[in-house]
Amino acid sequence: MSEGTTAFTPRVFSGIQPSGGLTLGNYLGAIKRFVDMQGSGIETIYCVVDMHAITVWQDPDALRRQTRELTAGYLAAGLDPTRSILFNQSQVPEHAQLAWIFNCVARLGWMNRMTQFKDKAGKNAEKASLGLYAYPALMAADILVYHATHVPVGEDQKQHVELTRDIAAKFNHDFKTDFFPMTAPVIEGAATRVMSLRDGSKKMSKSDPSDASRINMTDDADAIAKKIRKAKTDPEPLPESVEGLKDRPEARNLVNIYAALSGDTVADVMAQVGGKPFGEFKPLLADLAVEKLAPISSEMARYMRDPAEIDRILKDGAGRARAIASPVVQKTYEIVGMVGA
Ligand code: TYM
Repeated sequence: MSEGTTAFTPRVFSGIQPSGGLTLGNYLGAIKRFVDMQGSGIETIYCVVDMHAITVWQDPDALRRQTRELTAGYLAAGLDPTRSILFNQSQVPEHAQLAWIFNCVARLGWMNRMTQFKDKAGKNAEKASLGLYAYPALMAADILVYHATHVPVGEDQKQHVELTRDIAAKFNHDFKTDFFPMTAPVIEGAATRVMSLRDGSKKMSKSDPSDASRINMTDDADAIAKKIRKAKTDPEPLPESVEGLKDRPEARNLVNIYAALSGDTVADVMAQVGGKPFGEFKPLLADLAVEKLAPISSEMARYMRDPAEIDRILKDGAGRARAIASPVVQKTYEIVGMVGA
């Protein structure tokens, strides 16, 4: 955590969309790292980005349930509402207010380069919502409305955090100010890009039509073990060393998952399992995954039995988030020249 702007107090912000169930990719690439950063002595703010979720159609009842379920996932994984600010985006209107300003700062050319938009909009971009296109400017607002200096994310969000820096730089330049920090993406650890269990060249994703391609945080021990047993591999045993994983995406993915779950480095894992056939390695990985994930999924289920408590936590977090965000929007309006700010 070094390359953030030094003139700003370090502050961590990140978010996850409540647009479906949580996957092992979300857990290892994001939530587990959110929890690690909670203990680092830096203020940590974690959001359930419901306004991002509606850039594609969400059934209202499903959105409510998924928002609570994701919050339950945050809590079950170890985020503590007394040590981090936890809230859902729509309860803090300052995100949308700043996003509008950033819509007027970001350039169409920049948005046109966003690979996630191209992936999500697919061939039929004309039918995509305007919100899906503007999505990265809202993400920049999420981050900059707290003057966040560090954003833990998986590899797939790197381009969006870079755009956030471009927006901050252009705003600062256009208005001759240094109001917004240059936020650093924090993409660290063995599992910054967890791949599909069915195809080592594709990211593990909640939107993949094949449920066998991912481990869901709500999967039970049997489902986890079965998916790992059936995970695609090549016919060779594991290589002896890290270098041997280079051209073996499926093997590399399973070893990375093992490393991220155990907290060991990839080199340590290879020292333990190098040379083993998959028939031996997969049961070890399945046991480890069940050991680490089963307690989280049962805690999630326990939190979900008390939705009123989840709502209370989100509301309380939103109040604390607004206390930070509101003066930033006020100051931004003033810089831009809005009368009354
Ligand atoms: P989302 O909801 O798609 O994913 C949430 C987080 O999980 C990470 N992730 C993965 N990491 C490793 N391997 C995978 N297979 C994998 N799949 C998902 C993502 O990188 C992300 O960190 N635009 C964001 C949400 C967002 C946000 C923000 C993030 C909105 N505003 C501000 C940070 C700061 C998104 O769609 O993430």
